Amino acid sequence: MALAQIGVTGLAVMGRNLARNFARNGFTVAVHNRSPQKMHSLIEDHGSEGEFIGCESLQDFVDALAQPRTIVVMVQAGGPTDAVIDALVPLLDKGDIIVDAGNAHFPDTRRREAALREQGIHFVGAGVSGGEEGALLGPSIMPGGPAESYETLGPILEKIAAKAEDGTPCCTHVGPDGAGHFVKMVHNGIEYADMQLIGEAYSLLREGLNLSPKEIGDIFADWNTGDLDSFLIEVTAEVLKQTDAKTGKPLVDVIVDEAGQKGTGRWTVQSALDLGAPVTGIAEATFARAISSQRAQREAAREVLAANASDFHIKDRAGFIEDVRLALYASKVVAYAQGFDQIQAASDEYGWDINRGDMAKIWREGCIIRARFLDRITEAYERDADLATLLVDPYFADAVAGGLSAWRRVVSQAALAGVPAPAFSSSLSYYDSLRAERLPAAVIQGQRDFFGAHTYKRVDAEGTFHTLWSGDRTEVEA
Ligand code: 6PG
Repeated sequence: MALAQIGVTGLAVMGRNLARNFARNGFTVAVHNRSPQKMHSLIEDHGSEGEFIGCESLQDFVDALAQPRTIVVMVQAGGPTDAVIDALVPLLDKGDIIVDAGNAHFPDTRRREAALREQGIHFVGAGVSGGEEGALLGPSIMPGGPAESYETLGPILEKIAAKAEDGTPCCTHVGPDGAGHFVKMVHNGIEYADMQLIGEAYSLLREGLNLSPKEIGDIFADWNTGDLDSFLIEVTAEVLKQTDAKTGKPLVDVIVDEAGQKGTGRWTVQSALDLGAPVTGIAEATFARAISSQRAQREAAREVLAANASDFHIKDRAGFIEDVRLALYASKVVAYAQGFDQIQAASDEYGWDINRGDMAKIWREGCIIRARFLDRITEAYERDADLATLLVDPYFADAVAGGLSAWRRVVSQAALAGVPAPAFSSSLSYYDSLRAERLPAAVIQGQRDFFGAHTYKRVDAEGTFHTLWSGDRTEVEA
């Protein structure tokens, strides 16, 4: 039998669908799972879709692969991934490629890549986005690892990846070692921000106009035909229009309002703090999930905390809906701008040389944050690859300026009515911070100098200064 061009070990839903995607695209795929049952059922159910080589043992699996062997590992992040790698490595030869396609934390990927490099094995941490359906029909793929490995791996991954409207595969070599998993992590952070912003838009429409979830679903479906056209708006419309079969109520009203998280949003914020990258939208979204899960605190607070809020008094319903749409778009621009800044900061810190425009390109289709908007980001980076922030690109500067008054109205109405809109409002504060002529950071520098002699710089002279606060309060050069 012909040897396999690619192998997949770990055949839970994502691995199974990736394996099927390879096979459907004409590759011979060796498939393996720790308990062979899953491998047999894959071949039983889908064997007719292409060429599979079912392997009961890891040794059979490795023997079934053409050299250099290319192996996709799709198991749980953390210990299980290490366990599979440790079992595989003794069976491999120099030049073989291991692709970790799970949601690994990028420092783990950097560690694994360095360790395997010593042994002559290429380790590629590849972000894969698009959920189960994406894995089967075409995900967005973000492979990192050694550039050399992409010569073998790239054409295979590009074949199974989603294609943008212009035909470009949503897959490119992101950068060395952990760059791929880092970019996937930021993708998920942006996903958190996007989801929170959409949630806030829903709250405002519901509280402000007393609309039903179904009516809001219809509004979102309508927004989905314009600038906000995106997978996440589309699925939100579906969720809001769903009726619960048991109670006849809107499904969203019977779902417990505590948001789960597997960790990628938190990792994004942790890394942003380390890099000094102010991803306020992602952070607010991650914290909003955490607040939602503080059941005991929320119950205690609900009893005690005053509202002093006034009802929304909205006369122009259509005008309010349009304001919320514009505020959502502007806040979304901020969240993406911040995510791209974080990618740049990490690229500088770790020497990854990531091309942000290419990242926008490979997020245009296949992934969870896919949106018409990504075309605009791609174009922005094509106009200027070194943009200081997406917000200064002429298209985005204009788009945000056009919605700015609406954004301010929505944030202030939310505050007056006591409806939480943390991502909307912090994004607006971020925007205002960036454009401010002077920030209160000067006060902070004064405070720091007062209590800790931490010194400050002057606007009108070179050098570093300190005021003798506890002495005669003259200024000295530090
Ligand atoms: C994707 C998704 C995927 C998954 C996240 C959700 O790109 O396909 O981002 O990775 O849906 O794990 O994470 P939370 O459970 O933290 O929301």
